[in-house]
Amino acid sequence: MGRRVIITGVPGVGKTTVVTGALKVLEQEGIVYRTLNFGTYMFDVALKEGIVRDRDEMRKLDKEIQKRLQKLAAQAMAREEGNIIIDTHASIKTPSGYLAGLPEWVLRELMPDTIVLVETNEDQILLRRLSDETRSRDLEGSYGIAEHQQFNRAIAAAYSMYAGCAVKYVTNADHLLEKAVEDLAAVLR
Ligand code: AP5
Repeated sequence: MGRRVIITGVPGVGKTTVVTGALKVLEQEGIVYRTLNFGTYMFDVALKEGIVRDRDEMRKLDKEIQKRLQKLAAQAMAREEGNIIIDTHASIKTPSGYLAGLPEWVLRELMPDTIVLVETNEDQILLRRLSDETRSRDLEGSYGIAEHQQFNRAIAAAYSMYAGCAVKYVTNADHLLEKAVEDLAAVLR
């Protein structure tokens, strides 16, 4: 059985960018991980069912539908073997409040070794969201982003209690992407 590492971070913090960088570093050392994107697993089902047109609509679906998609995604990922990175969210900001990204029934399937929280200053995240025209990012201010990051730290502590996993904070600050990449690579080695 390989290692399972879950990568989380608020939208636009750059988690996918940091993961891509860390995988390149590790490849040179002969360490191989596969990345599974939780949102893509959910989106594939939602698209087939005709309930969304783009991935940013998923967090606006009825909470019970999101939970059903979440469960199906977790079950599909649990069947994967080898060293795996799961790119997902500690919590999802929905119109009716924060939804746990890794509730008990998801964690039980995935049982990660480590949960990584990619974070940075909320103003930097706001600017990154504004300059990303490929996505329908939620319009929220720095205060809302700070609150979301704070909630993610709290819920990650609960996840570690349940799964017995480590929780690692990786800072992905402007102009310091290499430092974030190296910090994540160290977790994955
Ligand atoms: P997902 O596809 O994961 O959406 P996301 O959070 O928006 O993730 P992205 O990959 O687009 O953003 P990112 O933070 O990785 O940033 P990026 O690297 O692109 O999830 C989609 C949906 O699926 C969710 O909304 C939810 O509905 C659902 N979902 C997923 N998991 C779920 C779960 N467990 N339960 C329920 N629902 C779930 O970078 C962003 C920008 O920043 C780029 O322009 C980049 O160039 C820039 N950047 C990155 N690093 C730096 C740096 N150091 N300095 C300057 N710029 C930087």
